[in-house]
Parts: sequence; structure tokens; C-alpha cells
Amino acid sequence: MPGPKVPVESECPVNSYNEWDPLEEVIVGIVDGARFPPWHVEVGAPLSTEQRAVFRERAGQPFPAEEIAAARDELDQLVDILQGEGVTVRRPEPRDHGRTYGAPGWSSTGLYDAMPRDLLLVVGDDVIEAPMAWRSRHHAASAYRPLLKEYFRRGARWSSPPKPELSDELYVDGWVDQPEGEPFRSVITEFEPTFDAADFIRCGRDIFAQRSHVTNAIGIEWVRRHLGEAYQVHELELLDDHPMHIDASVMPLAPGKLLIHPDRVPEVPKIFKDWEVRVAPRPVIPDGHQLYMTSKWINMNVLMIDEHRMVVEAQDEPMRRFAESWGITAIPCPFRSFNSFGGSFHCATVDVRRRGGLCSYF
Ligand code: ALA
Repeated sequence: MPGPKVPVESECPVNSYNEWDPLEEVIVGIVDGARFPPWHVEVGAPLSTEQRAVFRERAGQPFPAEEIAAARDELDQLVDILQGEGVTVRRPEPRDHGRTYGAPGWSSTGLYDAMPRDLLLVVGDDVIEAPMAWRSRHHAASAYRPLLKEYFRRGARWSSPPKPELSDELYVDGWVDQPEGEPFRSVITEFEPTFDAADFIRCGRDIFAQRSHVTNAIGIEWVRRHLGEAYQVHELELLDDHPMHIDASVMPLAPGKLLIHPDRVPEVPKIFKDWEVRVAPRPVIPDGHQLYMTSKWINMNVLMIDEHRMVVEAQDEPMRRFAESWGITAIPCPFRSFNSFGGSFHCATVDVRRRGGLCSYF
């Protein structure tokens, strides 16, 4: 007997091919319940020596309540700003990240639901749930499942690569940082496909990816085969000692406008030869400001509302001037407390719908 028909509306609720088309609907993460994950080798790999020490010491503990409250307030301000610009904002529900889960051979508690960009790769009408390499993020996409089910019922595609096993074979036995000046050594092997969605950045038919401490070559290949011939997935070779997420190294802002980190892009890929490429202004985050998981270059992790409007951190005067000098209106939002948790506006959001279709920009 045939099952019930799933109603599919004609207009797909999920539609986003790049980082700059006019934003209509976005998911903004939440920081409630954030916890340091249990210590494991892959957690430390993308962090600096000082950050590793904090993660080891506080493993399994909640992040400080006052820091969560300050970051929550900034997220709420971001939501108000986006809504004021005419964007529909969706949020996940808070949940308990202290519960233990696992699979054969390991167990873990969670991290947070602050960075939907890490987890969900939206390409056109397809939402791909990333197979995260961190055990503490194995169920990270669950926070967004109510929304994903809704989008699916309304006509979106919803994909998930093979659920990774995250057994010991995925992690390099005895991993240590590469000596200074030597090529990057990832903490993960090619045992199975893993990637974070934030290691990909979208420019229509061309999608750029990096290998990192969470994204392996077979993970990038999974995305390439899944997307098929309509897309070209390019792997970029960037110079990042602790790579995890491409969106503080390379940020396309509009067709023909590429923002890059001053040191991490040894050679601008030839495909961008007709684009204007500008180096991001130096960050102004003070040395004493706690950044648990990122470098200060999180200043370039901006969100485009469209080609002409960019959300920038309220105290980041150089980035505001930089945007204005490039014909982009900067919309300030306080976000420094949120930055402490490991991301900025691009990380804290994932665009669900942008007005526009599949194009080539090269
Ligand atoms: N991993 C990137 C950085 O720390 C986001 O700069």
C-alpha cells in the first residue's frame, strides 16, 4: 500500500548558492548550555598551546555563565538587526550538552549549538549535514532537526553523508603539531569521510574547500561526488598552522570581491584572476580578550546581507572603514563576547534562503 504523500510546495524554502545574494531567511545559533568537550586529541589540534591548556583543564565543564549571558545578548542583538533588515530568523531550542552519548569504542558529551555554519552546508535547495570529526559534535546537527524536517516537508532536499564511526582509526596515533615551517599535518586520517561545512565556501557553480583538522580529502571528495557535474569543488592550499574552517582565511563578499587573510593565501588561485582581491584589515581584538578557539582573524568572518550590506563587529572600526571603502555599507553589531566562543557572524549563522539562482562567477 502506498504511504502518505509528502506535500511539496512549489517554492522551495531552502535556496542559497553563494555568500552574497539577498538574504531572506537565516538560522542563528544559540550559546545556551555551552560546555567544554571531553579532552581528546582532535579537540586540541586546531587550538594554540594556550587554548589547549584551557580545554584540557576545563574538559566537560560548562563555559562561564556570565560569558554565556553576554554572548546570548549579542546574538539577540544580531537577530534584531537581521529582522530589521527584513530577514526571517530561525533559532534552535536550547538543550543539555552534558548528556553522555557514544558509539562502539567511545563516549562523549557535547559542545554547543552556537555555530550552525560548521554543521550545515546549504547548496541550492539541498541541506547537507556535515559528518563532524569531533566526537563532541557527533550529534551537533540534532539541534536543527526540527527546522530541517520542516524545510524537507516544504520541498527542500536533505542529505547526510555516511555517519562517521569516529573510531580510533580516524585519529592519527601519537599526533603532534608539524614542526614550524613544515607542511600541515592533520590530526585526522582518511579512514572515512569527515568534514565541517565551514571548510567550504560557495560561489555558485564553484565551491572552495580546504583540508583541515576536521576535513579530510575523502570528505571533500564525498561533497564533490554528491553535488555532481553542475559544480566544481576546488581544494585550496592555504597556509594555516591550525586549520579548521576556511571562513577566516578566504571570504567572497560579492561577485568580483574577495577578502583574504594577509598570510594564509600564498597565491591567489588563478580562477580569481578577474576578481578584485583585498587583504583584510588587522584585527583590533585586544590581547587580553578571551578567544577560546580561534585566532583574532575572526574579524573577517563577516556576514553579507546582500552584495552591498555587511554585518561587522561594532568595535571593529578598521573593518567598517574597509567595507565602506569598497562600496559596502557596514552594519555594526556588538559581537566580541560571542567571538570568545570560536566564531563571528558567518559562523553563528547559516543562510537558508537567498534570492537568486545557480550561476557561474568566473
Ligand atoms: N580557525 C580559524 C581561525 O582561528 C577560524 O582563524
